Amino acid sequence: MIHLEKIKYENYEDVRNLHVSKEQETFVASNMTSLADAYITLMDEEPIFTFAIYNDETVVGFIMIGYDDDWSGEEREDWLNSPEFKEYNGKKYYYIWRFMIGEEYQKKGYGREAFKKALEFVRTKPCGDAQYITLSYEPENVVAKKLYASFGFEEKFIKYLHEGDEVSAILKF
Ligand SMILES: CC(C)(COP(=O)(O)OP(=O)(O)OC[C@H]1O[C@@H](n2cnc3c(N)ncnc32)[C@H](O)[C@@H]1OP(=O)(O)O)[C@@H](O)C(=O)NCCC(=O)NCCS
Repeated sequence: MIHLEKIKYENYEDVRNLHVSKEQETFVASNMTSLADAYITLMDEEPIFTFAIYNDETVVGFIMIGYDDDWSGEEREDWLNSPEFKEYNGKKYYYIWRFMIGEEYQKKGYGREAFKKALEFVRTKPCGDAQYITLSYEPENVVAKKLYASFGFEEKFIKYLHEGDEVSAILKF
């Protein structure tokens, strides 16, 4: 059974040891990098949640979730200034920053189940109210794209994307 547990001293090494396949390395940062990013976020006094994904007793993946109301650090000038963005500008949102299932545990349904659990967690609004949930992925990451779309995430700002940009997708609360 899939469940999420906060990263703590007892499980962080298992999370650190997980990796994706060589071909997937451009889709997600290493878990060590993600944990360093989480640390810096906390040092900036911003909220961040880091979860180990368990199948029963085994750590099989990692997911990291934040909360913000400001996209401006993301170097996406074109669409931040677009009419489409006005609807979201200044509104609070949760974001799935990192998500991975270890290579040897993929294609067993764990990713879908873990993502469902992560959305259930977000829907408890652990940091307070929000209007939407967002995430992004590489355009060629068709597995992630389909998975997120099946939960209702809609791709946004596509016409403003530059080469090398990730696609952003949004789910309203
Ligand atoms: C995306 C990811 C988390 C999915 O995890 P997973 O445990 O393999 O996913 P599941 O087994 O629950 O499968 C989810 C769906 O994707 C499909 N799928 C999974 N891997 C697939 C593959 N390599 N090729 C084709 N379809 C695949 C499954 O068939 C399933 O489809 P369905 O639910 O519509 O029947 C995992 O592939 C991963 O860690 N990828 C690398 C990191 C990454 O891309 N993270 C997301 C960054 S935005």
